[in-house]
Amino acid sequence: MSLHNQKTKLNIGLFGFGVVGEGLYKVLSQTPGLNAEIKKVCIKHPDKQRNAPGALFTIDAQQLLTDKHLDVIVELIDDADAAYTIVTTALKAGKAVVSANKKMIAAHIGELIDLQQTHSTPFLYEAACCASIPVIRNLEEYYDNDLLQGVSGIVNGSTNYILTRIFEDNLSFKDALALAQHSGFAESDPTLDIEGIDAANKLSILLTHAYGIITPPLSLVYSGINTLHRADACFAKEKGYEIKLVAQAHKLKSGKIAAFVAPQFVQKGSQLATVKNEYNGVTIESSLADKQFFYGKGAGGFPTASAVLSDLSALRYNYRYEYKKLRYQTPSELSDEFYLSVCVSCDDLNRIPLGQFEHITEWSSNPVRSHVSGTLHFSKLAENDWWKQSGISLIVYPESVTEESSVTITDNAIPELAELALR
Ligand code: HSE
Repeated sequence: MSLHNQKTKLNIGLFGFGVVGEGLYKVLSQTPGLNAEIKKVCIKHPDKQRNAPGALFTIDAQQLLTDKHLDVIVELIDDADAAYTIVTTALKAGKAVVSANKKMIAAHIGELIDLQQTHSTPFLYEAACCASIPVIRNLEEYYDNDLLQGVSGIVNGSTNYILTRIFEDNLSFKDALALAQHSGFAESDPTLDIEGIDAANKLSILLTHAYGIITPPLSLVYSGINTLHRADACFAKEKGYEIKLVAQAHKLKSGKIAAFVAPQFVQKGSQLATVKNEYNGVTIESSLADKQFFYGKGAGGFPTASAVLSDLSALRYNYRYEYKKLRYQTPSELSDEFYLSVCVSCDDLNRIPLGQFEHITEWSSNPVRSHVSGTLHFSKLAENDWWKQSGISLIVYPESVTEESSVTITDNAIPELAELALR
């Protein structure tokens, strides 16, 4: 059946009826213009009370996957392994698929691209990155790889919500996380959010659409907000900064790409600092247009459902990702050949490997926390995870990526610290 005929009803099989699934169900029931109906919903726990007629639900996945009257499978469950089976089975069966499962997509993107091609079936997943912000379609359609200088921003709503509550309301990390969970922003396993894994998954998907790079998300350098210390927030405030979890990709002079996820200082009043709560904000930098900023809700039932809805609507005009940067251009490569301006914070100055720094600009130490700011070669983070050990946090400065650093620790103007580094 042709999906791109407005008059033909789109019959949907939905997997999952959580915050997003239910949001989609409600929105679709109120949007007759789309002429799309959820015919069956596959759920895991049949005894749970739900706001929809009981006849809609089944626990039998095959009922949806083998039903020839269902044109589209929408997968909105949080189990990435089960989602992989559902999505690949549906694509092989020739059904169009819409998913929001960033963990599953990031882990299998190469195979999923091949399946779409082999079975000539569309697979759309705008909701997987930044929920309501149409960043994937923008990167795919609008920006040429040659012109695209960078993509960076806040791509995880829960951590941004937690940081906002900590900075604005002085809430504890634990209370702020509980609120993020209660509001339905966090993953069911919130360590994915707070350890930066969800942001790494999203960055890996963005790298495919921005630069044609396919990379396992966990091979990216990433960290989250779980290692941040209350003293880091004070340090930031004293210097007129806030802290945000930022995923970034920048084109280097070599044409290769610098990419990582880390907490970042952002100047109060700057664009990223205005992104509060569960909102996301992404800056796309191109050599001709300079910087463009995309802002919107990055988590929650309705914002995510709005992206799913937009994908369903896109199926109507036969839209599919062409993976242009991968197929029609020479895909870029990731590189470790650059420097980062960072602040390393630790409970004990002796635990900071000062010898790893190229250049130290500032340090401070008190009985609670020590902070050392300077320049590190990125390979020092990629090769070894000393900076992820308990009690240590690493925060990057704004515009932290540089390609040159000539000053060494022994040249630095802080003799006392240089002495410590040589011990
Ligand atoms: N847990 C995710 C977030 C949900 O907080 O951004 C949206 O992807």
